[in-house]
Amino acid sequence: MRRPSSKFGAGRAGISLAWPALAGCVAAGAAVLTACAASDTPPAAGPRVLKVAHRGGAGLAPENTLAAFEVGLAHRADLLELDVHLSKDGQLVVVHDASLARTTNLSGEVADYTAAELAAADAAAKFVGPAAAGPQPIPTLAQVLALASGRAGVQVEIKVRSDRSRYPGIEAKVVDALRSHAMLAEAVVMSFDFPTVREVKRIEPRLRTCALISTTHLSSIGRLEPARIADEIVGLGAEYVGVNHAGLTEALFAALTGRGLRVGVWTVNDPADMRRFAAQGVAFITSDRPDLLQQAIG
Ligand code: G3P
Ligand code: CA
Repeated sequence: MRRPSSKFGAGRAGISLAWPALAGCVAAGAAVLTACAASDTPPAAGPRVLKVAHRGGAGLAPENTLAAFEVGLAHRADLLELDVHLSKDGQLVVVHDASLARTTNLSGEVADYTAAELAAADAAAKFVGPAAAGPQPIPTLAQVLALASGRAGVQVEIKVRSDRSRYPGIEAKVVDALRSHAMLAEAVVMSFDFPTVREVKRIEPRLRTCALISTTHLSSIGRLEPARIADEIVGLGAEYVGVNHAGLTEALFAALTGRGLRVGVWTVNDPADMRRFAAQGVAFITSDRPDLLQQAIG
């Protein structure tokens, strides 16, 4: 299957194969993975781990705002991670929660407001951080893509409503937005909701997708049966798996990579952990602190 070429994505599989020492360790089994990575394969000699700015850089600026995405870009993130919902008038808007109270000066649900009303809100209202960013609108996906275009890739996470139902048609809207900004090759579309991941791949097979795995999901099945979760994700057609870093055991890493999946971890804010995961051979590391990520793994 032909994929759009990209400095952010298309070469990653090839680069992974060019790290033969680690590939051999994986083939040898999970028990030796850490030892192999630590003794035989310095990260500098292997594939470059993609640096992902979580919600733009939520530890440095109000999450999912244009100010945060500028921070992520300033610290040379390879990809900006962001979360999308649909507004009342069907626009893709960038905000993490389905309800607005935690991060903004509004209450109620994202889906209760038009994109214009959300643009007039203050997404920095609840931010407690190192520097005052001033009031920030809730941006549209189009605004974030325009900011990122030519500077970084994007990880677009499709969220669900508070009642866990899907926004009808959101997958096609995300694909259309990436197409219209010519960013199919620089994007990965993700979700914790596996039918959403499957639907994105159905709509646009060239678009890379990522299934997200929480510790809740792992404690229900994954921790006990890594092979089962790997099979399920392969069945979605996803190229990537994003695992809560607290749940990435060596057995799970081996099961996922053994099925050809590229494994990333979120949300990693401790530099020692960043270096450890880079040595393990993850495909990407997602952090609220793109400054520390840049210092830790370059
Ligand atoms: O990158 C994955 C991560 O963003 C998923 O968790 O809750 O921050 O959206 P959350
Ligand atoms: Ca997210």
